[in-house]
Amino acid sequence: MHNNFSKSDFSDVKKLLNQTSPILTQSKKVEEFEKKWSKWLGVRYSTFVSSGSSANYISISILKVLNKNKYKNEIIVPTLTWISDISSILLNGFKPIFVDINLENLSMDIDQVLKKINKRTLGIFITHAQGFNGLNDKLLKAVNKNKLYLIEDVCESHGATYKNKKLGTFGLMSNFSFYYAHHMTTIEGGMISTNIKEIYELSKIFRSHGMARESKNQSYENKLIKKFKNLSPQFIFLYPTLNFRNNEIGACIGINQLKKLNENNRKRKNNLKYFLNFLDGRKYWKNFDQTGSSNYAFPIILQTNNIKKRNYFEKILTKKKIEFRRGNAGGGNQLRQPYLKKYVKKINLRKFPNVEKVHFFGYYIGNFPDLSKKKIDYLLNVLNKINI
Ligand SMILES: Cc1ncc(COP(=O)(O)O)c(C=O)c1O
Repeated sequence: MHNNFSKSDFSDVKKLLNQTSPILTQSKKVEEFEKKWSKWLGVRYSTFVSSGSSANYISISILKVLNKNKYKNEIIVPTLTWISDISSILLNGFKPIFVDINLENLSMDIDQVLKKINKRTLGIFITHAQGFNGLNDKLLKAVNKNKLYLIEDVCESHGATYKNKKLGTFGLMSNFSFYYAHHMTTIEGGMISTNIKEIYELSKIFRSHGMARESKNQSYENKLIKKFKNLSPQFIFLYPTLNFRNNEIGACIGINQLKKLNENNRKRKNNLKYFLNFLDGRKYWKNFDQTGSSNYAFPIILQTNNIKKRNYFEKILTKKKIEFRRGNAGGGNQLRQPYLKKYVKKINLRKFPNVEKVHFFGYYIGNFPDLSKKKIDYLLNVLNKINI
């Protein structure tokens, strides 16, 4: 990302700070941002939190509250995602069931998902990777038929759509990240969105120490005050959680950033189209499904499977001062990460050929709204000339 802040973001923050005794902890601006975000996304409720990973963690914590059948403890996840999707599952005592990705949209291989659904499956935690839509009708039907919880991680895909409807409106809950390098930023931040009031209230409780009063639902609170007579009404802690709140400065930036989001997404989308159009398909995989996509990084997958050639590719990019990340979103195949060794034993990596391909030969390079055509041409020129 380059320059995700504009002058108007800062002038709005200055206005906030110039008030006499401004409130900077979570207050009216946060509420305003949540309402505006819900309207933009097309959902009823949203909860602004400290990061996308907090949104992931709270969503899975809520599943734990909703789940009445303790036998169901499996959540199906992709092997290409961010660590917080998996750690949220592990930290809440659920079991991640991994599936390979497909190379058209870098999201879950839906056929593998369908095969993994069984009596113990509680939900599916899909990641819409790198701005691509990962949903299809087969998946949505299976979710309905098997009464599964679908959670959408849209941290990398703000504004992407499936059948003209925004991603993040299909699942029971959806998660967004406003980290600096994403489609829009609040410095650090995240959002949980949902259409269900009970889930919204739970997300506010989980955001703030598990405190009952955070639900802002007076009749619910009154019941709890009656039930726990020996507790101070202001300090009824319902769930073991932490503080995941954001603040007024973040919200102020978010409100302003949201105004530019659609236009910035349009620019990035055009950049991707142009990039893929002129990329040499003999050297790089190009068959990405761009329908409804809202990209923020150019995906690159080398056609070669030769590590020496790959190292040469990286050497040239470094020499030409082109910043890149290998392994695409989240550093490639999660199954190879040390944090999982204790939890996942005896995994046959050969059953995950697509994520393995991305792990060793996949990359992304930043695609931002003010990236000039000249720079994209420079990038294409370097990429297409590399002898791999
Ligand atoms: C798919 C995905 N989920 C979650 C996150 C976590 O977001 P954050 O960095 O705001 O915690 C990221 C981070 O980039 C991500 O790519």
